[in-house]
Amino acid sequence: MQTVHRTPVVALTARQLGEIDCDLLVIPVFEDDDLADVPELDAATGGELGRARASGEFRAKPFELFVTTRAAGWKARRLAIVGAGARRSCTADTMRRVAITGGLTARHRRLTRAAIVFRPVSNVSTETAAQAMAEGAIVANFDGASYKTSEQPRVWLESVELRIDGASSALNAALERGRITGECTNLAREMANEPGNSLTPRAFADRAADLARGAGLNVEVLDEQRITDLKMGLLLGVARGSQEPPRLLVMRHEPANVDDGVVLGLVGKGVTFDTGGISIKPAENMDKMKDDMSGGAAVIGAMTAIARLGVPVRCIGVVPMTENMPGGRAIKPGDILTSAEGKTVEVMNTDAEGRLILGDALWYARQLGVTHLVDLATLTGACVVALGKTTTGLFGTPPEWVEQIRRASERAGDRSWPMPVFDDYMEQLKSEIADMTNTGGRAAGAITGALFVKEFAGKLPWVHMDIAGTAWAEDAKPYQPKGATGVGVRTLVELALDASSWSKLNLTAES
Ligand code: BES
Ligand code: MN
Ligand code: ZN
Repeated sequence: MQTVHRTPVVALTARQLGEIDCDLLVIPVFEDDDLADVPELDAATGGELGRARASGEFRAKPFELFVTTRAAGWKARRLAIVGAGARRSCTADTMRRVAITGGLTARHRRLTRAAIVFRPVSNVSTETAAQAMAEGAIVANFDGASYKTSEQPRVWLESVELRIDGASSALNAALERGRITGECTNLAREMANEPGNSLTPRAFADRAADLARGAGLNVEVLDEQRITDLKMGLLLGVARGSQEPPRLLVMRHEPANVDDGVVLGLVGKGVTFDTGGISIKPAENMDKMKDDMSGGAAVIGAMTAIARLGVPVRCIGVVPMTENMPGGRAIKPGDILTSAEGKTVEVMNTDAEGRLILGDALWYARQLGVTHLVDLATLTGACVVALGKTTTGLFGTPPEWVEQIRRASERAGDRSWPMPVFDDYMEQLKSEIADMTNTGGRAAGAITGALFVKEFAGKLPWVHMDIAGTAWAEDAKPYQPKGATGVGVRTLVELALDASSWSKLNLTAES
């Protein structure tokens, strides 16, 4: 297999545009830019930019591209003008996407030394911009895994200079945050892209443990014996149909000198392949179910970043790992499973396996002493119906905690939106013979999935992120190649970095 990502050298420069020596100089242009305001730019293209705007060839719509040669005297070999839309709607995420568009453009043209220009706007600080642009440059340096035996070697960005005025330790720290979150996003994408036969639960656990230990986390991998000792009947139930044994990965970030009682618990669904089990899925698109561990990959990527950044808050990551397979010993519809906590579940549909393994994992995170919970899972097709491919569903309680996650995701450029978790929906999970069933029918399918998980969150503030739609990009965009997106990594890092603002809130679940 070929390497799938590389982290380029990302550095700041304050040079004049004409003095930046690179293969491709990436310059954002706003729809409402008056080129007379930036005469340097039009001149740099020998008037090409002005002519393209006048003729309508280039209108600076978001992530529209105009590649041209530079004027005599400039050191950059080529210029890539990237549309940035209207100036007043420009956010840090616009800058991240401009950087990705520029980075991908360079690679498509086999150019390896890029520079990206920051254009100040009123509502984005220089530090926020530096972080977002660094993230963008790094996530652009990623391709899906390749098992092709004859392929031209890939082109990787070697270096990316960010043209930003002003030098300060805050700016350097922001750049470092961007480097690390960008790289850890790529690590999560790499795992999510990996096929089910190479990323088995054991392989996933080994790979994650190496990464996490390398970042300085305290790591434990629980094997099937330990999982059995803990009586995790839900995780064991899902794993029964498979020849591959399950694993439970536990990662701890315990920085010195943090004395308050807050412990952030991050739990991610790690189904390395979801066939549906005995309630088997149709053949069409089943191959996509290799990404059913994207929530787990996001937790591993985020914990790795949190450790590398030395974020001053205690965090525990828990990832239950298993396949969901049909087999002679597989669980069957109608079977009753008993969770580690003691609750009984009537399995109506073996394809609703994510909520089962999360149930035992959330319980275990509580045993380890977490005070705040967030889980991430490719949980329901219903969430894709509700919110589409661009927005992660947020479910949780209390609303103040949900709002913290929503805002962190907004800052991270991982869009999300709250959905209700009214008790009334619990009606749909009633079982004749057990404490509850694992499915609530078609109506409100994403909500009943979340409510099942909520049963295992105890009284803790808890948010469930349904990333079924957002974990995988179906169509390539200028700023997003096809495949695993790494959604959630940056959100979780943002949330941990912001702990000082939520740790004082004194949150408990509302019901
Ligand atoms: N992993 C799937 C959810 C999924 C579907 C993710 C499509 C991404 C794209 C999950 O395990 C599942 O199968 N959910 C079922 C639940 C149902 C049986 C209650 C679903 O959504 O159909
Ligand atoms: Mn399933
Ligand atoms: Zn699944």
